[in-house]
Amino acid sequence: EKGGYEHFMLKEIFEQPRSISDCMRGRLNASTGHLMLGGIREYANKLVNADRIIMIACGTSWHSALVAEYVFEEFCRIPVEVEYASEFRYRNPVINEGDVVIAISQSGETADTLAAMELAKSKGAIIFGVCNVVGSSIARNSHEGAYTHAGPEIGVASTKAFTAQLTVLTMMALRVAHRKGSITERKYRELLVEFEQIPAKVEKCLELNEDIIKISELFKDATNFLYLGRGYNFPVALEGALKLKEISYIHAEGYPAAEMKHGPIALIDEEMPVVFIATRDSSYDKIVSNIQEVKARKGKVIAIVTEGDALIPKMAEFVIEVPSTNEALMPLVSVIPLQLLSYHIAVMRGCNVDQPRNLAKSVTVE
Ligand code: F6R
Repeated sequence: EKGGYEHFMLKEIFEQPRSISDCMRGRLNASTGHLMLGGIREYANKLVNADRIIMIACGTSWHSALVAEYVFEEFCRIPVEVEYASEFRYRNPVINEGDVVIAISQSGETADTLAAMELAKSKGAIIFGVCNVVGSSIARNSHEGAYTHAGPEIGVASTKAFTAQLTVLTMMALRVAHRKGSITERKYRELLVEFEQIPAKVEKCLELNEDIIKISELFKDATNFLYLGRGYNFPVALEGALKLKEISYIHAEGYPAAEMKHGPIALIDEEMPVVFIATRDSSYDKIVSNIQEVKARKGKVIAIVTEGDALIPKMAEFVIEVPSTNEALMPLVSVIPLQLLSYHIAVMRGCNVDQPRNLAKSVTVE
């Protein structure tokens, strides 16, 4: 059942070119400009005309919501709030008419997400579910929704479900933007063409596996890790840190790179590996300065960069090159080396990567 892989997690990481295409199948066609999510029909206008979108999730699903926040705000010009389900449900949240909720959950059974969504529903909000498990509680109790179609995810650490969530949420955003006219036809078509190339670019990232094994070997005994990114790559930093923590038990923190100087910079010394997600995008120059700040304090820099980057390889100890794409789609690509890095480090440390201690695949109690 592991298809020749040593663990489900590795199999699921390698499945991503296919799971992302499965997620797009029948929904997106760049050559015709077709983009349609079959599960969103009757309430589609609610989304297009939303005054505000509230995204509710936990864990890795909360990270995909953070990426989606940037995508929706940039292309749809709709304000988005991303909420931890557990906080939202207990603080008497303000929900107005015209607010739309998107509940995101791989399992569709997470107790806090389900309860938060029911609360929003009782206050009159329209709920869209983005779930992987067909027929799950969150899927059944949403007004409408879109499945991620990533196939069963067995490894406790979420990998292919995360990239499928990003795929669905980005498709939703582009569909809304196109309907609203908040992006030009040209930009829309350009993005669809880029989007369709993502599975092939993810495939290219998987070819980095051997290089990542070598880097993992050098850092497997670290006791702390810092992950830094800006813009679309900030949630990727959070996700990279979470993956490492949960399966290797190494303490790791993800931060927006600019926040470093407000505290975490105090941690940096020659013992501290710092993973920068520093692909070429609108915050590139800023993140280059952040790398310099870490180097000045002798931190060990591992940088995820865009292929052909000439500058960062001169600064970082280790560089992992990923294919270029539109910055809004980059998380689908830049997260792949981070999944592999945490996987290999965990295996080298003798951890049970598919079933890390204290964790369950679906958290049905609060
Ligand atoms: C991380 C992980 C958890 C889940 C979280 C939400 O790898 O698996 O953080 O993302 O428990 O689960 P779902 O998406 O099923 O609601």
